[in-house]
Amino acid sequence: MNAPSEYYQDKVAVVTGGASGIGLALAETMLSYRAKQVVLADFNDENLKREAERLNRAYPGKALGIHCDVTKEEDVREMIRKAAESGGRIDILFNNAGAGLGGLFDKETNEDWEKAFALNFYGALYGIRAVLPIMRKQCGGHIIDIISGIAFMPMAQQTMYSATKAALNGLTLALRYELWDENIRVTSATPGVVATAIWKVGGKEPPPGAQSPEQSAQTILAGVARNERLVLSDQGDVSGAKNCFNPDFAAGVDDYLLNVARKRRSGEWIV
Ligand SMILES: NC(=O)c1ccc[n+]([C@@H]2O[C@H](COP(=O)([O-])OP(=O)(O)OC[C@H]3O[C@@H](n4cnc5c(N)ncnc54)[C@H](O)[C@@H]3O)[C@@H](O)[C@H]2O)c1
Repeated sequence: MNAPSEYYQDKVAVVTGGASGIGLALAETMLSYRAKQVVLADFNDENLKREAERLNRAYPGKALGIHCDVTKEEDVREMIRKAAESGGRIDILFNNAGAGLGGLFDKETNEDWEKAFALNFYGALYGIRAVLPIMRKQCGGHIIDIISGIAFMPMAQQTMYSATKAALNGLTLALRYELWDENIRVTSATPGVVATAIWKVGGKEPPPGAQSPEQSAQTILAGVARNERLVLSDQGDVSGAKNCFNPDFAAGVDDYLLNVARKRRSGEWIV
């Protein structure tokens, strides 16, 4: 089999949430795999400018930063239009922008839920809608939605995160077979537990043993190159996906998730 890196050679890729963490590592790793162009799409202009400039110093002319708030469909359409204009095509779209969204259900309003879905679900949906005509015209492409292990292991005090990522996984995996015969690949990917800024929200720290964004990106990119349906990027996500809905493990899963809920209620944030 060819090295996974060959899949990215000469490709034009777009990564939402590309100015930080896993998205940035996906972009940088694809450039190291000789991608033709990588577009970082993000609403954090400071990080976007700094990281696009840094990547362009290492890979001259190959990184483009485009401001985009993925919760605004018009922004996403315009970003995809500019990316296609600049790269001549879009081979790969990573819908990666997202947030962890912790908190007690009792304290969450309908407005909070709408914002959660706007970012973690509709952001990806808008990306898919915007890129499909381009991929159809060029007779192929690959769309990857970054979900989370929580889609298979829904945890207390993360109801919005669990629901939005499970919904995104459902959309992604169903769409995979609608688009398969058009040579448009669709993949869901969990990054595993990764040390990024996402943990800092609410003053948390990444758990011990968290992998680096670069390690996670390499695993995701290898699975995507193999056209896996579901890329699982650490052992925790593998066992979550295997066990969570397995009736034979129901009692053990209950014990585990109840322990997480109780620990979190007492102030200890375990995963
Ligand atoms: N870090 C982990 O352990 C972990 C685990 C599972 C899943 N994930 C998922 O991985 C993805 C990337 O997260 P990360 O850990 O790299 O976090 P991060 O905070 O480092 O990166 C998220 C990026 O998304 C951008 N973003 C947020 N809202 C946006 C919006 N409305 N429009 C455009 N950009 C926006 C941020 O500016 C940031 O650059 C997320 O979807 C997250 O849910 C992360």
